[in-house]
Amino acid sequence: MSESVKMKKVLVTGGLGYIGSHTAVALIESGYEVIIIDDLSNASIEVLSGIERITGVLPEFHELDLCDAHQLSSFFERQPDLAQVIHFAASKAVGESVERPLRYYENNLVGLINLLKNLQGRTGVSVIFSSSCTVYGQADQMPITEQAPIKPAESPYGNTKQIGEEILRDVVHADPNVSVVALRYFNPIGAHESAEIGELPIGVPQNLVPFITQTAYGIRERLSVFGNDYPTADGTCIRDYIHVVDLANAHVSALERLIQRKQKQRFEVFNVGTGKGSSVLEVIHSFERVTGQALPYHFAERRPGDVVEAYADTTRANAELNWKAVHSLDDALRSAWMWEQKIRT
Ligand code: UD1
Repeated sequence: MSESVKMKKVLVTGGLGYIGSHTAVALIESGYEVIIIDDLSNASIEVLSGIERITGVLPEFHELDLCDAHQLSSFFERQPDLAQVIHFAASKAVGESVERPLRYYENNLVGLINLLKNLQGRTGVSVIFSSSCTVYGQADQMPITEQAPIKPAESPYGNTKQIGEEILRDVVHADPNVSVVALRYFNPIGAHESAEIGELPIGVPQNLVPFITQTAYGIRERLSVFGNDYPTADGTCIRDYIHVVDLANAHVSALERLIQRKQKQRFEVFNVGTGKGSSVLEVIHSFERVTGQALPYHFAERRPGDVVEAYADTTRANAELNWKAVHSLDDALRSAWMWEQKIRT
């Protein structure tokens, strides 16, 4: 197999999940051969058909749990030239991680370690890791740069992201064959414009936008806005909401940087956001404006663990990854609404 063909093969763990599936589409559209691993613990097999309908390509798929060391090593034995991985597979419910910490540490960290063990000894190993702006906690300065200090994690979930970055930093240090880009996501929202793939929360959504779309659809009675006495212009929390398609494209840019050996260091981190903060009330009003749906809401107590504000300084990602978020909050909310309607029909 020629070197350039090998370079185009990429493993996407958790590739049927929310961000993973959008990234799989972006990779296929950029000419990559995508292999997906997913244990289907928080994803549906139907997402694979959604990817095929958008791209015309049915990616190779393996139902596999990264914590199953035996199955994982037999997978890698059959893929001797696979060295590029985008690693999404992880649990992400903050509240659940507080209740079941061991499950989170095991799933998120044992999964990562097993993956890295199987990549050991290969040449030109490139890993893109799903990290989170949660590593910054309540940052002292806005917008948040990559130099902002890492704060003690608020939850086991957040801790797995911090520890995951540390594991990767140590592996890069020990092994000259390994290069890593950690992407610290801000708040991904929205869905693919085709409405073939999107977010599929199980049970009552914990995140703002799926709760909004389900409320507008009549599945939830009303939205609780968690706190209206924060020190912000309208009293509600501020976040950096990024369209999931923009976020997916950041992975393609990061992979190209790795493949073209453009890294300044073999372990790099980038903030992936829009650079713009929006309050909860601004999101509600934007949603109402673009969809024409009135959204019933009320003010409720602050949610424990919420930070007042978090939005990204994207200078580094814009310059080094040659990437920029191009979709607006309105675009993202419109696509989220189209997706909600699609899955209910
Ligand atoms: C949350 C996690 C974060 C994780 C991210 C993954 C917490 C505290 N943080 O981020 O660690 O990386 O999800 O997607 O869980 N809101 C309401 N009403 C709701 C839901 C949310 O007012 O029903 C508000 C929240 O208070 C917050 C904003 O909407 O101000 C965004 O909340 P959410 O979508 O849950 O994201 P984060 O809390 O930023």
